[in-house]
Amino acid sequence: MNNYRVIKRGESVRVFIYCIVSLMVLASAVACGSNSSSNSSAQKNIIGIPQLTDSKSHSGWEREDCSLCHPSAQLDKIHDYNPALASSFRKVDASDTGACLYCHGTNGIKGITAESYQCTLCHANPSIVASAGLFGGHTTMHDLDGNGKIGNSDCVVCHQYTDMNGSISLTRDFRQSSAAYGDISAFCLNCHDGNGAFGKTPPALAFDADFTNIYDTFKGLFGNTFTADIHGAKDGMGQSFGQFRPGSGYTSGMEVSCTHCHDVHTSDNTYLITQSGDSAALADGTALNAPVSVVGNNFTELCALCHMSPDGAITGNGLQEVTHPSGYDSNCTNCHYHGAGYGDKTNLF
Ligand code: HEC
Ligand code: HEC
Ligand code: HEC
Ligand code: HEC
Ligand code: HEC
Ligand code: HEC
Ligand code: HEC
Ligand code: HEC
Repeated sequence: MNNYRVIKRGESVRVFIYCIVSLMVLASAVACGSNSSSNSSAQKNIIGIPQLTDSKSHSGWEREDCSLCHPSAQLDKIHDYNPALASSFRKVDASDTGACLYCHGTNGIKGITAESYQCTLCHANPSIVASAGLFGGHTTMHDLDGNGKIGNSDCVVCHQYTDMNGSISLTRDFRQSSAAYGDISAFCLNCHDGNGAFGKTPPALAFDADFTNIYDTFKGLFGNTFTADIHGAKDGMGQSFGQFRPGSGYTSGMEVSCTHCHDVHTSDNTYLITQSGDSAALADGTALNAPVSVVGNNFTELCALCHMSPDGAITGNGLQEVTHPSGYDSNCTNCHYHGAGYGDKTNLF
């Protein structure tokens, strides 16, 4: 009960401040009357961000000039849960209100689409968002709308809601299926399972005829883990040509997350293969700092983040490769690919 009263008091102070602000800014202050109490019952989206849903609850309804009534200092204070977010608003033009609408709803403005949200305006600019390099790759990308680039409408397929608090959270930053995700791989597999989640179906596999999708290769057909990849649900038998790198946290019997091998947004490598060893979170210090490039179907620099042979040749990224008997060629996907954990190819992936 006490809590409730404290919250109410905070609300009315806030409403009072808004009214002062709008009185100062507007000759006719429309919203300071009885309806301002509706603020306390503002609708929130599923991750708790207040939504501008109707003219009664927002005196700036249908207006695009947010900064007129919500000056920077006020926005900084409101969004101080992540100062980097608040300061990003100052780095774009006052008319670039796409981010406001993505988080707060359309505010009744007509013609708002995902393109209006301007995700890449901030996220592809390293002086606004530090992780902008994630969008710098060109060879492969999650171009879900097929327009040749990863853009705003692609972002919102995976990030239907996000709070931009500076750290990724499975429950807030990703579009949700009916069940909560246990880990990032479960999110990937929600789409890469061949049933068209979120209206998107990835293409059939390039290297395996037994399977049509990654879910089946990774988890096994109909849940039969003996048909699964060893990097996936099946436990390996122990390596024959190589060993795990000394100092690495990788061991037999574990499932390797998709994002230890793959980037998500863009990559200069085919198949969105990671460009940097730091994606392999359990790798040793040397491997974590190694760059990764893929040449044709030679994935040596990737595999070497985790696997090695003590007598292996030095790889292009300064690690050590796995020595195969002579006669094995450098077209690794002749033998190693998603699906190669099954059948006569047993245990090769
Ligand atoms: C004409 C002044 C004005 C403009 C322009 C304006 N607002 Fe507001 N806004 C207000 C006032 C006043 C309130 C306090 C609640 C009320 O009475 O409407 C408010 C409340 C809000 C709230 C809190 C809503 C709630 O119910 O908790 C959000 C979010 C918001 N504004 C965002 C925006 C965004 C985004 C824009 C631009 C697209 C914008 N505002 C434009 C005056 C304005
Ligand atoms: C990443 C999502 C996000 C973005 C982008 C964002 N906001 Fe917010 N905003 C929030 C959250 C979360 C709150 C609630 C904060 C709280 O209650 O402490 C909020 C609260 C507000 C409020 C006050 C609501 C209230 O009830 O007091 C206003 C006004 C507001 N935002 C305006 C804006 C404007 C204008 C922009 C664009 C410059 C913007 N916001 C961009 C997430 C966002
Ligand atoms: C195919 C789904 C998908 C698409 C499309 C997508 N993302 Fe992501 N995004 C992810 C996943 C998964 C992660 C978490 C990656 C991880 O934990 O390694 C992520 C992480 C992020 C991060 C946090 C990165 C960090 O390291 O701090 C940002 C920022 C981000 N995405 C923005 C975007 C933007 C902007 C777009 C559109 C240009 C976009 N994403 C498109 C799935 C996607
Ligand atoms: C006005 C600049 C701006 C715009 C526009 C913008 N973002 Fe962000 N976003 C940020 C900032 C700043 C962060 C926090 C980065 C940090 O703290 O490292 C962030 C963080 C994120 C994250 C990381 C997860 C988290 O909780 O921090 C995701 C995902 C994300 N944004 C997605 C999007 C998507 C999708 C869009 C478009 C719909 C978008 N952003 C538009 C500035 C922006
Ligand atoms: C919204 C559904 C969706 C989600 C979620 C998703 N993907 Fe995809 N993915 C696709 C589609 C559709 C394609 C094919 C179109 C394209 O490449 O842009 C694709 C392509 C790919 C490719 C490239 C395939 C090729 O033939 O080059 C890889 C690798 C990939 N995804 C891995 C992942 C990983 C890893 C995750 C999780 C971090 C993930 N995907 C999450 C839908 C999704
Ligand atoms: C991020 C670390 C990592 C990367 C990168 C990686 N692997 Fe693995 N690999 C593992 C782990 C961990 C296992 C053991 C999994 C298990 O036993 O369940 C494994 C097992 C294997 C096995 C089966 C060995 C056995 O125990 O039966 C083969 C074959 C294999 N990997 C090949 C490759 C190839 C080829 C590449 C490069 C395309 C590669 N791996 C990249 C971590 C990695
Ligand atoms: C002709 C088939 C073939 C080709 C081509 C091939 N490999 Fe292998 N590879 C094998 C076999 C067989 C194993 C042993 C599998 C096991 O341990 O169960 C193996 C094992 C591995 C392992 C795991 C270490 C171990 O001891 O199990 C890695 C890593 C690996 N290969 C990388 C590569 C890379 C990188 C390429 C391409 C440059 C490549 N392989 C090409 C057949 C092949
Ligand atoms: C051990 C490293 C590793 C892990 C873990 C891994 N991948 Fe891959 N992935 C690869 C390599 C290497 C290729 C290229 C060879 C191939 O297509 O199988 C690839 C290819 C792909 C492709 C393109 C397949 C095709 O045949 O066109 C998709 C899609 C994909 N991965 C998605 C995923 C998803 C989703 C996960 C997690 C469930 C995942 N990968 C886990 C290394 C990995």
